[in-house]
Amino acid sequence: MGRVHLEALRRVEGVDVVAIAGRELASAQRLGAGYGIEKFESDYRKILSDPSIDAVHICTPNALHFSMTKDALLAGKHILCEKPLSTSIETAEELVNLANNRHLRNCVCHNLRYYPMVQQMRRMREDGDLGRILMVQGNYLQDWLLDEAAWNWRIDSDAGGQLRTMGDIGTHWFDMAEHVTGLRVRSLCADLETFYPTRQRPAKNVQASIAQLAAAPAAAGEHVTVATEDFGAVVFQMDAGARGTMTACQMAAGRKNQLRMEIFGTKASVGWNQERPDELWVGHRDSANNIYIKDPGLMKEKARSYADLPCGHSEGYDDTFKQVFRRFYASIGQPGSPAEYPQLVDGLRHMLLMDAQLKSHRTRQWVDVKAL
Ligand SMILES: NC(=O)c1ccc[n+]([C@@H]2O[C@H](COP(=O)([O-])OP(=O)(O)OC[C@H]3O[C@@H](n4cnc5c(N)ncnc54)[C@H](O)[C@@H]3O)[C@@H](O)[C@H]2O)c1
Repeated sequence: MGRVHLEALRRVEGVDVVAIAGRELASAQRLGAGYGIEKFESDYRKILSDPSIDAVHICTPNALHFSMTKDALLAGKHILCEKPLSTSIETAEELVNLANNRHLRNCVCHNLRYYPMVQQMRRMREDGDLGRILMVQGNYLQDWLLDEAAWNWRIDSDAGGQLRTMGDIGTHWFDMAEHVTGLRVRSLCADLETFYPTRQRPAKNVQASIAQLAAAPAAAGEHVTVATEDFGAVVFQMDAGARGTMTACQMAAGRKNQLRMEIFGTKASVGWNQERPDELWVGHRDSANNIYIKDPGLMKEKARSYADLPCGHSEGYDDTFKQVFRRFYASIGQPGSPAEYPQLVDGLRHMLLMDAQLKSHRTRQWVDVKAL
């Protein structure tokens, strides 16, 4: 994600990337080569002690988010942390309190909210076009862990957290469902499964990224027990009587990044699929259904600022980061303005949702999600 953030930041007005920290100096230098970056460090604290730096992005494995975000906030930096926020509720709460007490801008990177057609769904719901929300359903499916030899730090709960699939992609799905509907999940029943109880961790401690795995699957290595789930299914109840179901899996052959969401209201329905992001399905009972192709001219006025290009030119994953970062940095320049992006408190809410999923799975019962 370091590269994705770096490239997106180059497209945000008034922001200069001036430093990169990596575990190895050489890899940080490789990442930043050609971008005019002045400073490279292997210890991120050296960047935090630089008073000329206003904000930092944390793009490391999940278990490092807490200590790095805490150090950054204590150093007085505005922070943008990748999701999921942390690996425990307690640490997430500590970060929320610290950011609030220090009046620092804080964002957790649920960028998928910012596809133009997702914003269109949100504004349609706000304008009452869908009526009362009855049902939300969908899935987030990937296939990069289908091979038993596939390995990544996410599989190890010490690096990624107790829930892997639900933390890595399930949090994106629930963030979008709550953002678009304006409703909160209050109670849920979850089923989790680990299809491969062991996986082969490469002999050399290579923590391949998704892209690297796709290009060169890890060589056979030691068999280790897997404590994190490959699959999760959740039945849930939301505010105002709305009901929902979702499935997430990282072993669904052929589904690369299929975040699909359908929202059914008393007046109309909407459906969106991340693999075809410029299309929005609108369903009606008494007239023909529509498929809208992203076109700022046809979009709700409040959704339009999320579409920078004219119709016919697709806007995708990379652009969602630009939209989050633009709003985050604009808010730094405007103290007191509302935060139009997901904040650490949203990351905490996702930790509470995951905690309820784990409890429900273990007890085979419905569990209420702790209110904030
Ligand atoms: N928002 C999204 O759409 C999205 C997509 C993918 C990943 N993510 C999140 O981004 C984060 C990183 O995931 P990834 O897929 O890029 O992982 P990755 O393994 O590809 O990259 C992690 C990087 O962190 C570096 N690192 C590890 N320890 C470090 C340290 N002590 N100091 C400095 N650098 C260190 C590693 O060297 C590596 O370059 C995760 O939290 C993940 O959940 C978000």
